[in-house]
Amino acid sequence: MTDFVPPLPLRYTTPAGWAAVALAEPAALLSDHAHCEKKAALNALNLSLALTDSPRASVLLARLAEDELNHFRRVLEALQAFGWPLRPDGGNAYAQGLHKLAAKGLLDRLLMGALIEARSCERLWLLEQAGTAHPELGTAPWLAFLLELERCEAGHAVGYRSLALERFGPEAEARLDWWLDREAEVIAALPWTSAVH
Ligand SMILES: [Fe+2]
Ligand SMILES: [Fe+2]
Repeated sequence: MTDFVPPLPLRYTTPAGWAAVALAEPAALLSDHAHCEKKAALNALNLSLALTDSPRASVLLARLAEDELNHFRRVLEALQAFGWPLRPDGGNAYAQGLHKLAAKGLLDRLLMGALIEARSCERLWLLEQAGTAHPELGTAPWLAFLLELERCEAGHAVGYRSLALERFGPEAEARLDWWLDREAEVIAALPWTSAVH
């Protein structure tokens, strides 16, 4: 396994054993991920509207929302191809854990976006590494899709972080340092399930 460099300096490294647990129920994993992509699209759209005083930021976030909507549609298509139903949204304890800690409005919304994207990127990479050993998901198109998602979410993490820094300057750096510890605590405390996080 080659070393992975996350797009943000995450302070908790997911053990490689996590992927086997996540892949134990691939139908649940994919279904959960469809809901995650939908939420990522809606979040980016809402942020785009919150930043209309900065046309560049607003356009960047609208593009990001397009990426996520594209991911959502393709995860739905993958579910369809495998013959698996989209299950009801079971909620996302990871994102909820972060939201409970948020207090600084727009700055925290941008930084949480960066963190969630970076963590997703790390977990997608682990799935990609483990995927070749999976009987249903170890196929070339699936692995190529995971790689594409991983790279795209890495770009989103960098994009959210840049938007926070451009708008809030040094306050964003200090707050990101605080958030990196909080994110590590939240993700480390969560049980492993058939979900990206
Ligand atoms: Fe995505
Ligand atoms: Fe993303």
